Amino acid sequence: MGISEYRNLRLDVRDRAAWIVVHRPEKLNALNRETVEEIGAAVARAVVDPSVRVLVVRGAGDKAFVAGADIQEMSAMTAAEAQAFSRSLQEMLDRLERSPKPVIAAINGFALGGGCELAMACHLRIAAEPARLGQPEVTLGIIPGAGGTQRLPRLVGRGRALEMILGGEAISAAEALRIGLVNRVVPLADLDREVDTWVAKLGAKGPQALARALEAVLSGTEVALPEALRLEAGLFGLCFATEDMREGTRAFLEKRTPSFSGR
Ligand code: COA
Repeated sequence: MGISEYRNLRLDVRDRAAWIVVHRPEKLNALNRETVEEIGAAVARAVVDPSVRVLVVRGAGDKAFVAGADIQEMSAMTAAEAQAFSRSLQEMLDRLERSPKPVIAAINGFALGGGCELAMACHLRIAAEPARLGQPEVTLGIIPGAGGTQRLPRLVGRGRALEMILGGEAISAAEALRIGLVNRVVPLADLDREVDTWVAKLGAKGPQALARALEAVLSGTEVALPEALRLEAGLFGLCFATEDMREGTRAFLEKRTPSFSGR
């Protein structure tokens, strides 16, 4: 994959991972419309690339993951344009969350507003110690519009989500870990290495199983338990129609490491 076709991203495919790096350093990687479109295109491409097993989303540089939607661009929007912008962000993040390949957020710095929402649409969140996360929209007279009012309470509970959304104050990576908003916190210098470790771990698992586990958890938690359990059983059954399942079980019985084809 080339990098030149994106103006606001760097896309790097290596060691089974597609690193989607938001690259607008002069704006702390804020998301303007064009960047939202480019992330969507990069995700669509990584999802169908057979050499990619895991997606990683990171911000360029050491200061910001993504410091929110682009405030300058938003300041000139009409109500109708703002609604359309919100929908485009939501749809892009939905597609990211619905990726059949695991997506890791490497939170290298400020993850505010749309940045926090971008991280929440990823499946695993690894934060650097100096990172700060928050939904400061009310400070600007607006509300989160990229899924924040919905994904944040689902991740940390309604009480803590309301505290963050109404208070508008960013929290430290350590606090984000304490409330379950991120999975791991590591020193900034160790962030990419920690992500590489996760990529290696996930890359060695059966891709078909990972895709079905993601679907079971993401779709199952949106419906009532009896329906969710039926969904789980259906997806469990589907695993048995894959080469990965044959390989995984055979490798166990033959006392060797499995080599999954992803079929
Ligand atoms: N949209 C557009 N531009 C942004 C931005 C955003 N969300 N966040 C930062 N920038 C720009 C700043 O305007 C500044 O540009 P300039 O150099 O042309 O003035 C540049 O990025 C650097 O930011 P600056 O504010 O000078 O850095 P800082 O270290 O003093 O503060 C933050 C860092 C993250 C605390 C601060 O930039 C901030 O509060 N950003 C907005 C966060 C926000 O409200 N996000 C939610 C949007 S819905």
